[in-house]
Amino acid sequence: MIFTVAIDGPAAAGKGTISRAVAAHFGFAHLDTGLLYRAVGTKGGDPVAAALGLTPDDLARPDLRTAEAGQAASRVAAIPEVRAALVAFQRRFARADGGAVLDGRDIGTVICPEAEVKLYVTASDAVRAHRRWLELRGSGISEAEVLAQLVERDRRDTAREAAPLKPAADALLLDTTELTIDAAVNKAIAAINERIGQG
Ligand code: DC
Repeated sequence: MIFTVAIDGPAAAGKGTISRAVAAHFGFAHLDTGLLYRAVGTKGGDPVAAALGLTPDDLARPDLRTAEAGQAASRVAAIPEVRAALVAFQRRFARADGGAVLDGRDIGTVICPEAEVKLYVTASDAVRAHRRWLELRGSGISEAEVLAQLVERDRRDTAREAAPLKPAADALLLDTTELTIDAAVNKAIAAINERIGQG
């Protein structure tokens, strides 16, 4: 079965958690596309060459989840040639047999406009910053600093020319500000079941 779930939205809105749960529920493969940009941003040297030469080992590096890696990712993600170098891999993943969930910024708009289900996951700045701070707390970063970095990253991701962050016209909006993880996941699963039911 070819079935793509595209999950886009700003940093720390809950895309990753929802994507993993949805993929597990339906037995679909999952690709966190932010990791591609994080790997390119932290590799050093020419980012276009890094994107063209990305290997599975690059995606498994432990330092990809840091706040610095997120900022570096957002900067290289504005380079059109970097994005172009990563398109084919993502499209193959999205349309591989067995179903796929991809989360990122441009999955429903650019990578897979034909996705069967598109979700745009958001939450308030304060809630997103708090969630990300809980994840990063061990590193000693303050919540205010996490908030400032999120706002800066969203601004860059939204304002760039190449594949900016925005909801696809046919995306279902999912605001997780006041939702528990379970409630958000259940809404996503319901949207997918509805689409599967339509055949
Ligand atoms: O989802 P994340 O926080 O790991 O993403 C890190 C950065 O990578 C994000 O600020 C913008 C960029 N990105 C992108 O431009 N397109 C994607 N599909 C995924 C991430």
